Amino acid sequence: MAKVTVVGAGNVGATCADVLAYREIAEEIVLVDIKEGVAEGKALDIWQKAPINQYDSRTVGSTNDYSKTAGSDVVVITSGLPRKPGMTRDDLIETNAGIVKSVTENVIKHSPDAIIIVVSNPLDVMTYQAHITSKLPRAKVIGMAGILDTARYRAFIAEELNISPKEIQAILMGGHGDTMVPLPRYTTVAGIPVTELIAKDTLDAIIERTKFGGGELVKLMGTSAWYAPGSAAAQMVEAILKNQRRVFPVCIKLEGEYGIDDCYLGVPVILGKNGVEKVIELDLNAEEKELLEVSRGHVKEVMSVLDKLSSK
Ligand code: NAI
Ligand code: 2OP
Repeated sequence: MAKVTVVGAGNVGATCADVLAYREIAEEIVLVDIKEGVAEGKALDIWQKAPINQYDSRTVGSTNDYSKTAGSDVVVITSGLPRKPGMTRDDLIETNAGIVKSVTENVIKHSPDAIIIVVSNPLDVMTYQAHITSKLPRAKVIGMAGILDTARYRAFIAEELNISPKEIQAILMGGHGDTMVPLPRYTTVAGIPVTELIAKDTLDAIIERTKFGGGELVKLMGTSAWYAPGSAAAQMVEAILKNQRRVFPVCIKLEGEYGIDDCYLGVPVILGKNGVEKVIELDLNAEEKELLEVSRGHVKEVMSVLDKLSSK
């Protein structure tokens, strides 16, 4: 009897709700938005697709009425501004921090035991915002970015090799931004190290494209992506509700892992019914450690911007 709330019925939120419904990941999906009628309309549209696509999940919408979200097992927060061309994710902090804070307060009031998945940007710092506002254990307040960034990396590799994207396994760490750390040493093609199949300069170009993968789409569309992000968030919900114990890169507060304390970063974790069941610690080499340190420094800087905003 799983119930999932998706806050923000915009591009990412509506896509996530749609995937949750048609893949029957949750029995009930509540879509919430602040804009009058939008969540109700999109929820109704998704429900009216059920006879065509043959699913039973119910989708209901709500304009800012959180009583409808009561008892949710998982809540996905996608509310907030997306970036426009020329903006970085960090430019969104002031507006989105206020939104994520108030949304988290409302969510927790009605679903105190929920697991929260944050999608709003700047992702790592919005996960920090939701974590301190909710006061839940760190394993239950996590951010979606790594699955998306890894999916972009995997898609580019599949394209380069002209093979199925299903064959590409990869892991990526760090913040959701240009300092993310793709890890070719931990990338395989049906078990074969990718470094045996793709030349170093080509792989380096793929890594660069991945780092700026979000920006590539913003440039093309005038706003940020939603199909892959919405599906990635739904995949995290599925791993939790079905207790799949899948290994994904997920943003979580680090408490000593990788020698890093008190910073929200993407790391490989086991995702199951309790949220993050375990943070996996890879034995990084010196170059990888250095890249992760750069990413940590960047996220810490943006975290301190949030701290200053909060103390105003
Ligand atoms: P969008 O503009 O299509 O949708 C955002 C929705 O949030 C709007 O419908 C808006 O009315 C709603 N909203 C604003 N304030 C609200 C509030 N207080 N309560 C409830 N709803 C509220 O934006 P889109 O494309 O869906 O992106 C959403 C967020 O996700 C952005 O911050 C974007 O940067 C981020 N994002 C993050 C990704 C990641 O990998 N973590 C990937 C893609 C987007
Ligand atoms: C992305 O990477 C905007 O964070 C979003 O597409």
